[in-house]
Amino acid sequence: MAREKNLKKITLSDLSELASMLKDFWTTQLVNASDDDILEDIRRMLSPKCFGYLIMYGTRIAGFVFVNEKYGYINNIEYLFIKKEYRNKGLASFALEKIKNIVLENNNARVQIEVSPNNIGALKLYHKLGFTSIDTISLSTSLVGETEKLKFQKLEFFVNPKDSFKKSDR
Ligand SMILES: CC(C)(COP(=O)(O)OP(=O)(O)OC[C@H]1O[C@@H](n2cnc3c(N)ncnc32)[C@H](O)[C@@H]1OP(=O)(O)O)[C@@H](O)C(=O)NCCC(=O)NCCS
Repeated sequence: MAREKNLKKITLSDLSELASMLKDFWTTQLVNASDDDILEDIRRMLSPKCFGYLIMYGTRIAGFVFVNEKYGYINNIEYLFIKKEYRNKGLASFALEKIKNIVLENNNARVQIEVSPNNIGALKLYHKLGFTSIDTISLSTSLVGETEKLKFQKLEFFVNPKDSFKKSDR
């Protein structure tokens, strides 16, 4: 039986599970976040300029999404995470559609997502959901080993999928 998808406001009793998901999120981004980093994330998520939700699958917490209302007019989706066992069920797509509706209700149509060019699965998903325009590019370099050229929306990136992401994550 298909379970119901839902967004739920974060409450006090969810904080330890949120902390554990934040750790896992950072691991997927190849960042080894310290406990202090996670506390700082939670502090920001609970600040009035930001809003975060748990993504529910039935009664289970399947992931979370965190939006930062930057400069008062851009809704920046900073984190989106679905636990491994709940992926490919449409939960991230559902959460992004909901977030779009929430920001529209607040008369603020601009939604932006930051994503690493290595994260091909996430890029494909965002593209499918209508995120097409990129107005800034941040460049950094720390790739080791073999690189591969990736073309995405007329842009070319050098990525390192072999070392960074397993094939099943793409
Ligand atoms: C990227 C991420 C959020 C996607 O979450 P997800 O819930 O698996 O995403 P969805 O299920 O909505 O979409 C993924 C795929 O499942 C498909 N899908 C959607 N609904 C589905 C359903 N009901 N049944 C089966 N598949 C479905 C989608 O079409 C998509 O397929 P595609 O790969 O062909 O495009 C998740 O992999 C994740 O948390 N990754 C680690 C953290 C991360 O990288 N976050 C993004 C950077 S901020």
